[in-house]
Amino acid sequence: MYRVAVIKGDGIGVEVTNAAMEVMRAVTDKIDFVEFEGGFEVFKKFGVPIREEDLEEIKKMDAVLFGATSTPFNVPNYKSLILTLRKELNLYANLRIIPDLWRDREIYIVRENSEGLYSGVYRATNERAIDFRIITRGGAEKIARFALGLAKERNFKEITFVHKANVLRGDRFFRKIVLSLAEREGIKVNEKIVDSFTIELVRKPWQHKVILSENLFGDILSDLASIHAKSIGVIPSGNYGEEIALFEPIHGSAPDIAGKGIANPIGAVLSGAMLLDYLGLDGWVIWNAVKSYVKKGNLTPDLGGNAMTVDVVNGIISELEIDPIEWDELWVDEIRINTLPTLFMK
Ligand code: IPM
Ligand code: MG
Repeated sequence: MYRVAVIKGDGIGVEVTNAAMEVMRAVTDKIDFVEFEGGFEVFKKFGVPIREEDLEEIKKMDAVLFGATSTPFNVPNYKSLILTLRKELNLYANLRIIPDLWRDREIYIVRENSEGLYSGVYRATNERAIDFRIITRGGAEKIARFALGLAKERNFKEITFVHKANVLRGDRFFRKIVLSLAEREGIKVNEKIVDSFTIELVRKPWQHKVILSENLFGDILSDLASIHAKSIGVIPSGNYGEEIALFEPIHGSAPDIAGKGIANPIGAVLSGAMLLDYLGLDGWVIWNAVKSYVKKGNLTPDLGGNAMTVDVVNGIISELEIDPIEWDELWVDEIRINTLPTLFMK
């Protein structure tokens, strides 16, 4: 049995996480879900986004399934729950899969997840505030290996590396490391300067298979790329560390629709699929079911339909036509299309 920590968080985080667990339970009985409280509501009660003792328990789990939390910027002393978890669990790589569910293609965005302007190192006086954009050799090497490993296992001949090395020292340093590791792996690096790349990402996104960037650029580029998935509600992600990984849809807590039962569960459900892959279970079964459902089923309002969350969940479950345990292993290998490379396995 695997033990998976569940943090539903705030707003629609609760609804979509329940949806993801329901679909995962329909695929495997090998997971014990253990729930923990976290988010802005916890902060209001305890003054921290997650309790210390809970954090210690979570560190002992096999993986984490995360919903969504609010990260208000005008509350003094509030530190975002997701940033706290990324830091405490050493989740250095953020992989966001931008899927075109209707045409079977995707863009993998690999965002460095712990350094850059998110390092948390700053100096502030009454006169000025400085955030340090830290890029270390160790951090750059790890994220470069992650992106190159993904490209290799997926059989892509190149990655797109997005930077601002024409201005920033840190990116010049990062660039040297990426280029030298890529050369060793025999993978071509398609270099792009971040500002002009935004236009390309709007106009011709699908020619980029793996996009690698530092933390803040990756944050912005992944939201921008989400327009190609038709709704931010369908995009899953994994935050990977050396010990544990955390999976979350990239959307926020959407307080305007929370509790109405109309949140799109697909991003959370696909995050569940990535989590199964990480544990060596059958995530691809979920990907296939989601793809068959969206082509014919009623969708939630963000995708122009009038379905409720529960309708989409039931629809996806009814598309899980097979019992994976009964599948012939050889055949399974041939159709394992969306399974993430073994590199991302625990
Ligand atoms: C994300 C979010 C977070 C980030 C916020 C909520 C702190 O935008 O996961 O992309 O900036 O990383
Ligand atoms: Mg973001």
